[in-house]
Amino acid sequence: MSWLEKYRPRTLDDVVGQEHIVRILKRVAQSVKSGNTEVLTHYFAAGPPGTGKTTIAYAFFRDAFGEDAPILEINASDETGVDAVRNKVKAFARTAGYSLIILDEVDYMTSNAQAVLRRVMEVYPRTVFYLTCNYPDKVIEPIRQRCLFSRQRFKRLSSAEIRTMLKRILNAEGLEITEEEMDAIVNSSRGNARDAINLLEAFSTSRDGIDSLLSVKATLKLVDGIYEGVMEGSSVKDVERLVVEYFANGGQIPDFCERFMDNLLSDTSLDEDDITLWMHRIADVIYETSVVEYPEILFRAKIIAFMG
Ligand SMILES: Nc1ncnc2c1ncn2[C@@H]1O[C@H](COP(=O)(O)OP(=O)(O)OP(=O)(O)O)[C@@H](O)[C@H]1O
Ligand SMILES: [Mg+2]
Repeated sequence: MSWLEKYRPRTLDDVVGQEHIVRILKRVAQSVKSGNTEVLTHYFAAGPPGTGKTTIAYAFFRDAFGEDAPILEINASDETGVDAVRNKVKAFARTAGYSLIILDEVDYMTSNAQAVLRRVMEVYPRTVFYLTCNYPDKVIEPIRQRCLFSRQRFKRLSSAEIRTMLKRILNAEGLEITEEEMDAIVNSSRGNARDAINLLEAFSTSRDGIDSLLSVKATLKLVDGIYEGVMEGSSVKDVERLVVEYFANGGQIPDFCERFMDNLLSDTSLDEDDITLWMHRIADVIYETSVVEYPEILFRAKIIAFMG
């Protein structure tokens, strides 16, 4: 069994972070357990991958209705057309009592299919829908209106939360890793619990990977240096030297841009306008370097231009 399966939270109590969602679902589960099923509604779970959207659905419904609660998970983007979804739902909704349908990647359904889905959601009073997506704006408003948490977002887990989760696993496995290795995994996972657990499992079987992860970290540190240089007006030469080193270490432009954005978003000395301006610039760099033959040259020129 993979660690992902082995350590998937079974109950809402096991979930790390996402308190704004979990707190409410715990209440609902409590009420249901004491017989008040009218507190149930449909649910919306939007946010980045690997942050617990699907996991929380299972934990919630099992907390409310017990281990054997009927749950059907359908990937909306795999099913050809909403009819397939409707037929599955229909068959499933015949079971006595309440059941949960987790519909993943609703944002990949066409708006027509979503409109049909919306009606299906209204037909079966004992079927609870839990819709997950990465891009909530792609889900039609009438669906969102019928769901709790339509205005909430799942958050990337914080470094501290990822660390807590990984430490639990290490304890359970009776394993240890160094602080440096822990840092490297936490940083590379970027708040994605699935990635973090997969990395940890990979390292537990072979330590080879850790070296490349540590060197990735060193490369990303160069981006932080470039960020500082650009923002604080260091000499163009110094910044260029770091850019050259970045590419020499195998750094990639998309990773650069992502890291640069992370820096922007956590930079408290910038106001909204500055951030917007820089976001535009970065978006520009991503686009323009993707359409030329020698992206690194253009990239260097762009960075220097930003400093001018
Ligand atoms: N908040 C969390 N607390 C503890 N473990 C978590 C959490 N979020 C995710 N995990 C772990 O990561 C794995 C993936 O999580 P999950 O499938 O719930 O992500 P997701 O948000 O549904 O992602 P996707 O958008 O890719 O469907 C789970 O098996 C679980 O082990
Ligand atoms: Mg999921």
